[in-house]
Amino acid sequence: MTAAAPNTFRAGPDERGFFGLFGGRFVAETLMPLILDLERAYEDAKKDPAFKAELEHLNTHYTGRPSPLYYAERLTEHLRKDAPAGKGAKVYFKRDELNHTGSHKINNCLGQILLARRMGKTRIIAETGAGQHGVATATVAARFGLPCEIYMGATDVERQAPNVFRMKLLGAELHPVTAGNGTLKDAMNEALRDWVTNVENTYYLIGTAAGPHPYPELVRDFQSVIGREAKEQMLAAEGRLPDTLVACIGGGSNAIGLFHPFLDDKDVAIVGVEAGGHGLDVENGHAASMNGGRPGVLHGNRTYLLQDDDGQILEGHSISAGLDYPGVGPEHSWLRDTGRVEYVPATDREALDAFQLLTRVEGIIPALEPAHALAEVVKRAPRMDRDRIILMNLCGRGDKDVFSVARHLGVSI
Ligand SMILES: Cc1ncc(COP(=O)(O)O)c(C=O)c1O
Repeated sequence: MTAAAPNTFRAGPDERGFFGLFGGRFVAETLMPLILDLERAYEDAKKDPAFKAELEHLNTHYTGRPSPLYYAERLTEHLRKDAPAGKGAKVYFKRDELNHTGSHKINNCLGQILLARRMGKTRIIAETGAGQHGVATATVAARFGLPCEIYMGATDVERQAPNVFRMKLLGAELHPVTAGNGTLKDAMNEALRDWVTNVENTYYLIGTAAGPHPYPELVRDFQSVIGREAKEQMLAAEGRLPDTLVACIGGGSNAIGLFHPFLDDKDVAIVGVEAGGHGLDVENGHAASMNGGRPGVLHGNRTYLLQDDDGQILEGHSISAGLDYPGVGPEHSWLRDTGRVEYVPATDREALDAFQLLTRVEGIIPALEPAHALAEVVKRAPRMDRDRIILMNLCGRGDKDVFSVARHLGVSI
């Protein structure tokens, strides 16, 4: 822990967009008026009951919220088999993989498209890594009749072919980005460039709780529906809060969505799981920015980043396209330094094993991103007492990943 713990963990960011030393808005002067406009529009929307009501209506009738809270009884029993006597926590999932479009990304997209419409914007742009955010953005753009262009790294275009086709079916124009490694960081650079050149009519719909203020805050707020529902559902199911929360961390939006409503519940332990790739000791072989990086500035905010000795951003690696971002949302950096949340890595291998385990034991094929969180549950639940409860955000389904999993397992389909 390197920062003082505050009285409340839920109050941030401050008026300049900082969470402690992290966040802010480090952007070109040309972008500043846009960012300030967005901040005003969001502040305004937050106070408008009609905005809230429309979002709630869409969450219910378009997305299918609330997503269920599911007691994974067979997985719990499976993990108890090799646990010491009296050990083996109950495992619950928050099933955001059942949302329309297959992940939590739609929660944020619906909130932001309503904001874009409120601001009179007529063109939507977005970046995407695994393609889940691209699909969710293309979906809401189709729903609201707005043209949509998606930036996606060329490498990701290859490894996420089903999502690429879905975006095209939904009417989005796709721009493959060949700069750098052709992954999420490069796609985000291009999207920011597009925004600066098309300031008048364009809304940049960011897919994670990162970027310049107010994005980390507003994405968190739209995703917090996950944690609010989970809290209520857990109280109804067990009459108490869970002991431990677990979620995977790419930019950090599904995780902060689950964590935020629980941050001031001091008895709830919170764990974020980063992509450990080939292992933390392999140079450029992972995407664990909080376990293997240091603070710097990227994409408009100060946060933990993977970087070399000269401060050049490293590419990062993960088996999962959605986790190989070399940074992380600034609120997570702050939660790390205050010690409120523990951040741990899970390797590609561990995620692949967890992916197969859940599929076989519960009949649920998870996305590779939450398979990282599951890898931590598999390690942690057998060490906890039997009367303990661990709640994991199952934030995406595995349809998009089956071809790449087959490749990794050496199976031809
Ligand atoms: C299913 C799924 N989970 C998690 C992530 C990681 O993003 P975040 O950390 O913002 O939730 C992605 C990103 O594409 C995703 O598709």
